Amino acid sequence: MSNIGSYEKRVEDFSWDTAREILNWKEGELLNIGAICSDRICRMGRGDKPALIWEGFGDRRSVYTFEDLRAYSNGFARFLKDLGIQPGDRVCIFMDKIPSLYFSFLGILKMGAIAQPLFSAFGDESLEVRLASAGTKAILTTSKHVKKVRKVRERLPELKTVVVVEGNPDRVREDEVFFDVEAGPRVDTFEVYPSGPETPSVLHYTSGTTGQPKGALHVHNSVWGQALTASWVLDLRDDDVYWCTADPGWVTGTSYGIIGPWSLGITQCVLDSGFTTSRWYRFIQDNRVTVWYSAPTAIRALMKDGDEVVRNYDLSSLRHLASVGEPLNPEAVIWSGEVFGLKFHDTFWQTETGAMMICNYPGMEIKPGSMGKPFPGIEATVLDLATHEPLQDPGKVGLIAFRPGWPSMFREYWKKPDVYRSKFVGAPDDAMPEELRTGGDLWYVSGDRASIDADGYFWFVGRDDDVINTGGHLVGPFEIESALVEHEAIAEAAAVGKPDEVNMEVVKAFVTLKPGYEPSDELELDIMNFIRKRLSPLAMPQEIEYRDRLPKTRSGKIVRRYLKALEWGEEVGDLSTLSDE
Ligand code: PRX
Repeated sequence: MSNIGSYEKRVEDFSWDTAREILNWKEGELLNIGAICSDRICRMGRGDKPALIWEGFGDRRSVYTFEDLRAYSNGFARFLKDLGIQPGDRVCIFMDKIPSLYFSFLGILKMGAIAQPLFSAFGDESLEVRLASAGTKAILTTSKHVKKVRKVRERLPELKTVVVVEGNPDRVREDEVFFDVEAGPRVDTFEVYPSGPETPSVLHYTSGTTGQPKGALHVHNSVWGQALTASWVLDLRDDDVYWCTADPGWVTGTSYGIIGPWSLGITQCVLDSGFTTSRWYRFIQDNRVTVWYSAPTAIRALMKDGDEVVRNYDLSSLRHLASVGEPLNPEAVIWSGEVFGLKFHDTFWQTETGAMMICNYPGMEIKPGSMGKPFPGIEATVLDLATHEPLQDPGKVGLIAFRPGWPSMFREYWKKPDVYRSKFVGAPDDAMPEELRTGGDLWYVSGDRASIDADGYFWFVGRDDDVINTGGHLVGPFEIESALVEHEAIAEAAAVGKPDEVNMEVVKAFVTLKPGYEPSDELELDIMNFIRKRLSPLAMPQEIEYRDRLPKTRSGKIVRRYLKALEWGEEVGDLSTLSDE
């Protein structure tokens, strides 16, 4: 019997109190995610249980118990407090998936600061934009990545402290601090910050169509959504060994690679080495992984490597598989059923929602290609594209929308109240964020299109904007375009997603060159590397098309929609408003 049991019954009887019951948490108890994921598990007598099984490149392997997690997160909490970090300060975590990432995440929350995880493959410009926006006070990084921090530090006056948590202490500069939590004395007691449900916890940057990335702010109350979905959707149980393949630089890696599973006291494993099919299968085999949460791009990459290689490994420990981040194609669901004897269960959610919203549940019939049904307690619909009224007819395409008020919903876009407001329909202009979260007739609009069939299953159609989803990671075209025009040869640029067999989409750039520059393969490579280094490998265009002019509106705005339609072989639409082409 699965944890959720009957989906229909759970919908009928739903209350978020069930999350508190599962954790045996009583009103008046401390509500701090850092403590809930470590101290609390130890207090319940499970301190000796492995919390983190970590493997890196080569043969590097370490196992940490919940007691270790408690002591090392205390170590970070104490260290940051001694440095003068205040509750509410933003502390960035900028490192690979090493154990200190996990310890420091919980440590930051324990001392009341806001954890701001950033993907370690980000280049200096991606880093700078996000640190400047958040007014980040301290950054925790490693010798491997500190160079990028050094490059931008003098332009970030609010960034007071740079801490190197792994690497060579002798190469740390005078204006930086070295802190190896495992080398120091164990910190057995730390007075955890008395956070409440609305105390900010995590700040995740996410890309939109226009402007630079926005910081979605979450609060400690999110844990109820993350814990309950981890229990009912991932079906996590006490004896599981769980593997979430996501990097905590992205929301999946924190909501389900840290908070959900550890709040339930589940053993999880982390693989900090690049993707290869054989390494992944060996990791599952050696660690006897039972529950696996991954992404369609990874599944397609495994599929591409064929069925033969699967047979070289003993993957019989697996009992439940789930996926997130992009449309999970029906072939992938069917393939996994054939080779693993288990179907991947698709889940849909976003950085902003903080936890799963539309899912396939253990025990419920999977319709391959469908994202499933709303999580119990979540009111979801699709809204008419024009009128924003909920659509009644099955199969009609509209905007996916959710009724505000679920526990893990984002509370603001960092310092961007107007953009936050713009994500809600039915909101009076003067509505305060509090009303936006709880207000009666409002809908939070996700920015995705879908239809609902007669059985209530949701079917993803596509995004309602120009954001590029490459391998489950959102990349903002504006950020890429801004970086492109900083290249000496480029006059104007447009970035769009182009279809890709494995990654769903990859970035394609259309550029016009400045006088004196000629298109060449060499220039193309140079531009690609320029973006890879400044932004990230994800944002790097896989193709660059040189054009004499870019399509524009009469007011001079480049029309990405047109270029994107060309790439996807779609109707180009009404071009009468364009001044060129
Ligand atoms: O477009 C949807 C797509 O990823 C977006 C959210 O991205 P992000 O905030 O980075 O969070 C990713 C992981 C939670 C969505 O707006 N997306 C996410 N899950 C699915 C999906 N598209 C189709 N099917 C999914 N299951």
